[in-house]
Amino acid sequence: MVERRSGAPIGRDDELHLARRLLEDGARLITVVGAPGVGKTRVLRHVARDLADEGADVCVVALRDLAASGVLGGVLRALGGAARVSSRASAIARAAERMERRGTVLVLDEAEHVRDEVAELVTAWLDGMTRVRVLASSRERLDVVFEHVVRLEPLAPAFAAALLRDALGRAAARWKVSDDDARRLVSRVDGLPLGVELLASRVAALGPHSVLASRALPRLRAFPRASRSVRRRDRLRPARAGLGGGGRRPPRRCVGGVVRVLRAKAARRPRRRRAGRAEGARVRP
Ligand SMILES: Nc1ncnc2c1ncn2[C@@H]1O[C@H](COP(=O)(O)OP(=O)(O)OP(=O)(O)O)[C@@H](O)[C@H]1O
Ligand SMILES: [Mg+2]
Repeated sequence: MVERRSGAPIGRDDELHLARRLLEDGARLITVVGAPGVGKTRVLRHVARDLADEGADVCVVALRDLAASGVLGGVLRALGGAARVSSRASAIARAAERMERRGTVLVLDEAEHVRDEVAELVTAWLDGMTRVRVLASSRERLDVVFEHVVRLEPLAPAFAAALLRDALGRAAARWKVSDDDARRLVSRVDGLPLGVELLASRVAALGPHSVLASRALPRLRAFPRASRSVRRRDRLRPARAGLGGGGRRPPRRCVGGVVRVLRAKAARRPRRRRAGRAEGARVRP
């Protein structure tokens, strides 16, 4: 039986403790790193929420839909300021001044496609200031001088099984899943939380035995390090014969038996997009 605090991510106590300890030791930039769907956002926002509960000024900026050119404006907007300023340098300085005054914890979620820009901005902010802290998530580390990395691996089987049960509970599934079946099921997605959630919806619909009997189940489609213009559901789309995703095209790459996570470094850079609005908020993470 796996116990956890209400709302806490399953099976991430070690990583949460590490993040906590780093913060207590004065870390000013922590990047949660790991494969797509491994739970970076979940962990990042949990840490941020804890800090907000303790009274910190937490400012969350979801970078997913922003191009590099939109990051600075997104941060300014999230901080409650005008996104337009006379120059980049003054925009950086204005953001720094606001964050320093408030002792802000800036949360930059999903930075992988704008790493260079984020690295530059964060370096500027941390270099000149003393009270600003940054929490980021990215598939790869930012590689800047202040950085501490909290790396997430797929969940261990007991925790992945607990997540499966949790997701089934949320779906009000009527099936009972034995411990043994739960472990067999989650082994098919290598304990990757996003895969477990997809699996749970399948199990909720068909029951564990049908799913276990289905040879097609493990054929989850995985892209090598997806472009950020590809949305999550496309990045880890169930193969046609797999989790019932009914993809438009045959899977580009199906890895028999397991979800292979998208680590390939030979990733294409995402196409440039217009800077969109940041989903930023100075409220709850
Ligand atoms: N430890 C966990 N406990 C419970 N649910 C989890 C856990 N980890 C991830 N999840 C759930 O799995 C799904 C994928 O997690 P999340 O979005 O955090 O992954 P990610 O690593 O941020 O993905 P991406 O690379 O696409 O940004 C979410 O629905 C999330 O709530
Ligand atoms: Mg994420």
